[in-house]
Amino acid sequence: MGKLKGKNIMVGYENIFNEDNRLLQAKYNITARFYDILDYPWERLYKRWRPGLVNDIRGTVLEAGVGTGRNLKYYHPSVKLTGIDLSSAMLQRAMRRGKSAVCDYNLYHDDATVMKSAPSNHFDWLIATFLCCVMPDKLQPLAIEQFGRILKPGGQFRILEMLYSKNAKDRKRQRLFAPFVEKVFGARFDRNTYSYLTKSAKLRICNTYFLKKDIYMVIEGVRVE
Ligand SMILES: C[S@@+](CC[C@H](N)C(=O)[O-])C[C@H]1O[C@@H](n2cnc3c(N)ncnc32)[C@H](O)[C@@H]1O
Repeated sequence: MGKLKGKNIMVGYENIFNEDNRLLQAKYNITARFYDILDYPWERLYKRWRPGLVNDIRGTVLEAGVGTGRNLKYYHPSVKLTGIDLSSAMLQRAMRRGKSAVCDYNLYHDDATVMKSAPSNHFDWLIATFLCCVMPDKLQPLAIEQFGRILKPGGQFRILEMLYSKNAKDRKRQRLFAPFVEKVFGARFDRNTYSYLTKSAKLRICNTYFLKKDIYMVIEGVRVE
């Protein structure tokens, strides 16, 4: 584990990524260089939501798919944050952005479907913003199992995802962007995250709401056992 300015970043989990995640990792290791520029048109919208997504959270928090660390500066100073990401290049960006964070944080190079760096029954919160839309459907149950493992009983989760709108006009616009979004970010509007969460033995969905139209959905819940 290498130390950078008192914050930790762990490397060396390349071997355990499955083939899909290896491809995703390769994509993000390239995209990382341009990520903030490519994502800029959307981030203008997302940045309005980010404070509200994390600033009520306290305790030990695991953010899965922390990316370039866009949420870091909004966590409360008392939060003990662990951020993980598949891409070391994205994590390097997060390290830089983390300088403006007021909470304690450690970043680990890890796969959300494995979470080697996260102990069981440890976290008060699991946060993931735009992770599951990137994750292939067949891997989602594995990640959700890990969410259930690392949360304490009673621990909570909040997941922000994007979906195809039921409105024909909005859906048409999304379909125009979909090839770009998939090519560059590996993200899709048709992931079945909600459905996989409903099948989890350990996690129960308590609340869902949309941040914009019927496209950007927040799913909140709790570990029940
Ligand atoms: C669309 S970006 C979102 C980044 C950040 N959460 C945000 O809101 O800006 C998706 C991130 O998830 C990461 N990721 C994808 N699959 C992952 C996995 N299995 N485990 C950990 N991180 C993953 C990618 O490397 C990328 O940094």
